[in-house]
Amino acid sequence: MSHASAISDHWGTGDVYSRILGAMQAAGIDASAVTLEQLAPMDHFHARGFPATKDLADTLPIKPGQHILDIGSGLGGPARYIARRFDCRVDGIDITAPFVDAANKLNALVGMQDAVSFRVGDGQSLPYANEAFDGGYTQHVTMNVPDRDAFLAEAFRVLKPGAFFALTEHGLGEAGTPHHPLPWSKDGSGAYLMRPADTVRALERAGFVKIEVTDTGDKYLEGYNRAIELAERGETPVFGNHVLLGKMAPEIIRNAALNIAEGRTHPVQFNCVKP
Ligand SMILES: C[S@@+](CC[C@H](N)C(=O)[O-])C[C@H]1O[C@@H](n2cnc3c(N)ncnc32)[C@H](O)[C@@H]1O
Repeated sequence: MSHASAISDHWGTGDVYSRILGAMQAAGIDASAVTLEQLAPMDHFHARGFPATKDLADTLPIKPGQHILDIGSGLGGPARYIARRFDCRVDGIDITAPFVDAANKLNALVGMQDAVSFRVGDGQSLPYANEAFDGGYTQHVTMNVPDRDAFLAEAFRVLKPGAFFALTEHGLGEAGTPHHPLPWSKDGSGAYLMRPADTVRALERAGFVKIEVTDTGDKYLEGYNRAIELAERGETPVFGNHVLLGKMAPEIIRNAALNIAEGRTHPVQFNCVKP
């Protein structure tokens, strides 16, 4: 199996959109009138969900009408939120075809096809012209990317001079050797965590400047602990992306929290600029 299909199969197979519709129905949400706010517990598919996207978006200098790239766009919640909040256009690309299919169908459901679109592709080899975008971000994607230099060089290539680039990820903590399963890997296969200092050096090698590093570990730990508490009280919401993590979701969430607490992983955000 190729690297791309191993990663894609890890994240999502089959008809993901139908599973999302099923979860909507179970939660009593009317799909024909669903709002971005109602979709948020599902379609911001990363640790901490929508609050993390909002925190990231707060740091992005996007102007109305700009064209932004989301690398590893998942189910499309972040791209839709950013398009609506900043009145900009967002293109998303993701290696997992069932996610891209669901992301485009969710777009149609909320009538955002003109502002946002998604296609299948690998961030290590982007199908866009040089200097096509006013800004780009990649939210919790790079844990699965073996060739970080290729990934960052491609992001740099497709951005205009002066464009911003933002990256959030679970870096490798000082203690190393994370417990698995985790959201991005069942057993350590397909996982390529880097220490934050090494990611800074990789961003510099790609040509990015003005690199700002923000430690997000405490916020992530708090988010995971809240999810664990809700699960212990039997109050996990019916409509949420734990549905897509499957039966292992409780163990995955416990490990994600433990890794941060033990310094095995190190959630971090990088904001930088293409000169
Ligand atoms: C944790 S999800 C995050 C999705 C989205 N960024 C979000 O914040 O909701 C990770 C995503 O990265 C995608 N991904 C992993 N490796 C990729 C690559 N090399 N190129 C593009 N997408 C990739 C996966 O398919 C998955 O959708």
